[in-house]
Amino acid sequence: MTGKIVLLPGDGIGAEVIYAAKDVLEAITKKYNKPFEFSSYDIGGVAIDNHNTPLPDETVKACKNADAVLLGAVGGPKWDNNPSDLRPERGLLGIRKALDLYANLRPVKGFKKLLHASPLKEEIIQGSDLLIVRELTGGLYFGQPSERFDNGNAVVDTLAYTRKEMERIIDKAFQSAELRNKQLTSVDKANVLESSKLWREIVEEKKADYPNVTVDHVLVDAAAMKLITNPTQFDVIVTENMFGDILSDEASVLTGSLGMLPSASLAEDGVGLYEPAHGSAPDIAGKGIANPIAMILSAAMMLRYSFNMNEEAQAIEDAVEKIVNQNYYTADLKNDNGELVNTTEMTQLIVDAI
Ligand code: IPM
Ligand code: MN
Repeated sequence: MTGKIVLLPGDGIGAEVIYAAKDVLEAITKKYNKPFEFSSYDIGGVAIDNHNTPLPDETVKACKNADAVLLGAVGGPKWDNNPSDLRPERGLLGIRKALDLYANLRPVKGFKKLLHASPLKEEIIQGSDLLIVRELTGGLYFGQPSERFDNGNAVVDTLAYTRKEMERIIDKAFQSAELRNKQLTSVDKANVLESSKLWREIVEEKKADYPNVTVDHVLVDAAAMKLITNPTQFDVIVTENMFGDILSDEASVLTGSLGMLPSASLAEDGVGLYEPAHGSAPDIAGKGIANPIAMILSAAMMLRYSFNMNEEAQAIEDAVEKIVNQNYYTADLKNDNGELVNTTEMTQLIVDAI
């Protein structure tokens, strides 16, 4: 069977890193005889330029017919002053909604050789290994109304969730915890928000279905603090869309660089979309110096979740670890004892290691 993969390079460094991931997947094809078929479509700013919409219908259609989607990044200063329906981010939110990608998994794991690049002291960060499970298709990002009124002098955004939307992401988090260290931290703001009160009730109800998992509830402000002061206490964190957006950026730099962190966005049983946690980095776009590792590790997550190719996914992860441990690094990291390489060189090192 040939795996059908849609590539959505997007903007900025998106294209540079996505073709790096494709090279790595081609190395997997060679080694394991697992063929993939690739096609590319526009999303984000480049789609605005080419089709006058951040999410062309043909892009959605291709993604729906694919086995998996790899996405680079969207956005850039060129489109910053566009009206909100012509912003690149709309493309990303639109494809998440169109494919019903409700579960965003963002694993945060440090590489030993890169701990020095963390803003935290090594003894605090050492051994941290956590997974953020972020709800991705509800909450403030999609609730209506979301608009200005009173002649533009007042605004409203809506934080809306149904019980079903909460249940499915909370189930996903319990299941993820069962596969890991069986410790789930639910993050909310139940001292203030009605949505968080229902969220907390559902987490409490679900406990009975997952007796092996220990659960605690942490308010989002305290969670932000604990991620910095004691990140090793976490295994799986589950939270709603906006809290997850903020906490995952915070968590991602703990281990040195946003350039290292992959993510998977999954539907109940449909196509999965895989993208780096970082953005389009317009400041370094086109220079060939972007770190391709987050994208390459996202491709590994794709093999695991969408194609059930655990051995092949592991081969990519092992290759990345090997090269990082050999002290090769890209410009987003700093390693006085290492060798600075560009995007192509880093990719080739990983391909050779596979
Ligand atoms: C992310 C990004 C997006 C989000 C933006 C680009 C809309 O920050 O994937 O975390 O807020 O979800
Ligand atoms: Mn974000």
